[in-house]
Amino acid sequence: MRKKIVAGNWKMNLDLQEGVALAKELNEALAADKPNCDVVICTPFIHLASVAPVLDCNLIGLGAENCADKEKGAYTGEVSAKMVKSTGAQYVILGHSERREYYKETPEILKEKVLLALANGLKVIFCIGESLEEREANKQNEVVKAELEGSVFNLSAEDFAKIVIAYEPIWAIGTGKTATAEQAEEIHAYIRGCVAEKYGAEVAENTSILYGGSCKASNAPELFAKPDIDGGLIGGASLKCADFKGIIDAWKK
Ligand code: PGA
Repeated sequence: MRKKIVAGNWKMNLDLQEGVALAKELNEALAADKPNCDVVICTPFIHLASVAPVLDCNLIGLGAENCADKEKGAYTGEVSAKMVKSTGAQYVILGHSERREYYKETPEILKEKVLLALANGLKVIFCIGESLEEREANKQNEVVKAELEGSVFNLSAEDFAKIVIAYEPIWAIGTGKTATAEQAEEIHAYIRGCVAEKYGAEVAENTSILYGGSCKASNAPELFAKPDIDGGLIGGASLKCADFKGIIDAWKK
């Protein structure tokens, strides 16, 4: 059975003290009221080493929001997958549309990052999703398929099993516009079909596919009720304990 996952993506928010405080608060809330799904928080690099010790790893996983496309060396300002792993983190988000758009991360760069993350024992939350223009031209299916083919379909089935896919329509990220549960289910089912075509039905059945884009406690139950939606990647609503817990609790409804 594939995992149900609610993952937070803090992005470039919260200073170190605020981040540690939020992690503690969330850990206490989930210790008191156990989640029905896997919970992960992905934080800025600088938070990782301080957040890791405050989390009960049976309750909450930890991840980075990015890693370098090089193994090590003279790459000023970069943080390698090995460094991420050494903090105690288990996950890394790769391929987020903000990285693709603002930092020009190409499918080839992302392919390298995925390989390095896996080689260093990290699980990858790999983001895919179309722009509004592409959705309006009804190109969403070809866009997500090309993103998978460009950066993760080179993996062996064994390595692909360490990938969590996050479908995030760019037009829904931070905009308050959520894809309807039907729109999301339609493309999640399509994505699962692409995985099945490449790796077979069993691998596809075991792949968790998360929805991201203005997911909140009010719309999560409807989204998570769909058969091919296995949880969410949460930006804005992961920055407050009560909001994030509200989404985690959607799995109890
Ligand atoms: P959002 O962001 O929940 O703020 O829309 C989701 C994401 O970008 O991962």
